[in-house]
Amino acid sequence: MTVKTALITGITGQDGSYLAELLLRKGYVVHGIVRRASTFTTQRIDHLYRDPHDPEARLFLHYGDLTDGTRIAGLLKQVQPDEVYHLAAQSHVRVSFDEPECTGDSTGLGTTRLLEAIRTTGLPCRFYQASSSEMFGAAPPPQNEGTPFHPRSPYGAAKVYAYWVTRNYREAYGMYAVNGILFNHESPRRGPTFVTRKVATAAARIKAGLQEVVHLGNLDARRDWGYAAEYVEAMWRMLQQNEPDDYVVATGVSHSVHEFVEQCFAHVGLDWRDHVRFDERYLRPTEVDHLIGDASKAESQLGWRATVRAPELARLMVDAELNVLRNGRAPGDQAAPTAVPAPAAR
Ligand code: NAP
Ligand code: GDD
Repeated sequence: MTVKTALITGITGQDGSYLAELLLRKGYVVHGIVRRASTFTTQRIDHLYRDPHDPEARLFLHYGDLTDGTRIAGLLKQVQPDEVYHLAAQSHVRVSFDEPECTGDSTGLGTTRLLEAIRTTGLPCRFYQASSSEMFGAAPPPQNEGTPFHPRSPYGAAKVYAYWVTRNYREAYGMYAVNGILFNHESPRRGPTFVTRKVATAAARIKAGLQEVVHLGNLDARRDWGYAAEYVEAMWRMLQQNEPDDYVVATGVSHSVHEFVEQCFAHVGLDWRDHVRFDERYLRPTEVDHLIGDASKAESQLGWRATVRAPELARLMVDAELNVLRNGRAPGDQAAPTAVPAPAAR
């Protein structure tokens, strides 16, 4: 049996870590691109890593950055992947208002650099673009593959650009390039400044007496929250079809931020109203009010369906935080018992 090789950008992120686990379980050789930082950023994948001199090693990491097209093309030539999963991005919506240019460069143009590198190297590899429900923005729910885009942030606009570049390379050059339009998906590995993780961490820490309150912004927005560990299976299935196509991936159910907060605090026996404070710095200049994904196409064509809904997600995320406080860091978990509060402007 031929062993397949995958290249993952954003392997150090939430989704990259779950996808690497999945592909290694399926017998792939996995290469990941990691950007250089002054500290290690591999906490989420350390449990998967083996010394490259180990003959059993099947996960290999390479330095690279989305803003460096030459390096990306060189890595493609070197790795010769069968499948490329492009997950890397500046992925924080609020931050994209502070850093719109940098977000456009990595989240938007980064996709073009990768596609162009695949085209010019002539590799027959399949390409997955991490598109987002943020592209729908102000379009009323439920949203599906036919819903017109109306992005409400520099991040959403950059993702719309990347979506269309992916489709254009498919149409212009016959590349197997697909968009997975994923609605919000969370886990204990979620970045600490996204609302679900911020709230789950706060509920656990408040219960443990380590902090008293948490400051949040808009509690009325509604999101379709699923479980990241399930969503990476849909990514993989998209690259195993006969023809390339685009798919919405979602649970089909929405909850408000307020409901998610209530669920997290109730799980540890606390009344959220005693511990949540409003801070306008967490508001966005324009908000996405309501996302509900219609994933019926993914269900009928990929045989994929979400099973974990927001209330279960809230419980499992709070439990993971309590576990970290009791026992320290679990494999793949990037939480730390002494995690500092989120930077002010996020
Ligand atoms: P994440 O945890 O924020 O991970 C982002 C990854 O991109 C990290 O590995 C990060 O590296 C890397 N990265 C950022 N800028 C880079 C650059 N200039 N060069 C190279 N690598 C860079 O995001 P995620 O939640 O796993 O999401 C994965 C992808 O799906 C993203 O494209 C996101 O926009 C998209 N998406 C996410 C969701 C969701 O709900 N999670 C929904 C729809 C779409 P560092 O570790 O060094 O920061
Ligand atoms: N981050 C954050 N912090 N959000 C807050 C806070 C807070 O203190 N208070 C309220 N919110 C609200 C936001 O205004 C937003 O309406 C909602 O909580 C969710 O915010 P995030 O968790 O930051 O996620 P997002 O929906 O903006 O973006 C995520 O999902 C997209 C898919 O729809 C990110 O993962 C994007 O990368 C992804 O594309």
